[in-house]
Amino acid sequence: MKIAINTGGGDAPGLNAAIRAATLAALKRGWEVYGIKNGYGSIFTEEPFIKLDAKAVQGITLQGGTILGTANRGNPFEMPYQKDDGSWETKDVSDRLVKTFEDYGIDALVAIGGDGSMNIASKLIQKGINIVGVPKTIDNDIFGCDVTLGFDTAIDIATEAIDRITTTAESHHRLMVVEVMGRYAGWIALYSGIASSADVVLIPEIPFSYDSIVEKIKERESKGLQYTMIVVAEGAKQRDGEIVTKGKTPGQEVQLGGIADQVANELSERTGKESRSVVLGHLQRGGSPSTYDRLISLRFGAAAIRCVEEHDYNKLVVLQDNKLTRIPITSIEGKMKSVSLESDTVQTARDIGICLGD
Ligand code: F6P
Repeated sequence: MKIAINTGGGDAPGLNAAIRAATLAALKRGWEVYGIKNGYGSIFTEEPFIKLDAKAVQGITLQGGTILGTANRGNPFEMPYQKDDGSWETKDVSDRLVKTFEDYGIDALVAIGGDGSMNIASKLIQKGINIVGVPKTIDNDIFGCDVTLGFDTAIDIATEAIDRITTTAESHHRLMVVEVMGRYAGWIALYSGIASSADVVLIPEIPFSYDSIVEKIKERESKGLQYTMIVVAEGAKQRDGEIVTKGKTPGQEVQLGGIADQVANELSERTGKESRSVVLGHLQRGGSPSTYDRLISLRFGAAAIRCVEEHDYNKLVVLQDNKLTRIPITSIEGKMKSVSLESDTVQTARDIGICLGD
């Protein structure tokens, strides 16, 4: 057997652990393992693969990022290229990719990625590639998965950052607005906001009103609390408003961000209080994975190889009700896991007095 492994989309803590487990489990079975460089981004270069042996994956469990490199402009169905006039367009190079796999004799691909990568995988499956998916994203928004690798570390980082910013908010009697990642789902904001005892948490699933936030600030003031901590997901939006974006480049997803600044300015206007905004950004994706992320990534990586061994292709290895299982990759196409408003976590936020902006 000859297998390839790739990591696509944004990096996340735990990717290297998943690569290591998949590689070691495959080597143990006497297979050859190749890592694809930079998502699918380098597949048509002279050296698209890195041969992975035990030495190549030694000591990488604790490393952030991905030793293979990644790209979120590497969709083979929409590969960006620059035209002669300097402008950018995209083209479908998926047939070339299938041909490259055939030329190198790759029997199966372990695709470690988020929803974008799984949508690509779904289409490659239709073209005859044998794929097993591993769910990765700090956003935790992949449908059918209790949890994705990278999320636990991201919420740890966000929680610690919000804790630190809280001391400044309190000392300066300010409104502090912290923007966290998560795209169209509020998992990072909700979990880190609750864990850090934020006063207001704004998530995409609950469009917010400024009146409700101002009421919370006033309520705190009436108790002598002159500061308020507000955590806002990058995909949160005002009721009847739009998500704040920074534009889109060809072959890439639209970039979200900028809501914290707007919220901070608007709340200052409405309350007369000093405010500051902080965007945590890529800090949430970097550095060493938490113990939980290391473990889940190793489990996912090894489980993917067991899946390949059984020729049970086109499956995503997932955790459901805390058990490892497999679901068809095609079953999650176009779907997303949002925060359920009926979940006990949302109820907990409300019960402990966190304003959710509604
Ligand atoms: O999907 C992971 C993620 O970190 C999102 O939370 C965020 O919107 C996006 O990637 C940022 O992507 P980039 O690295 O391209 O700025």
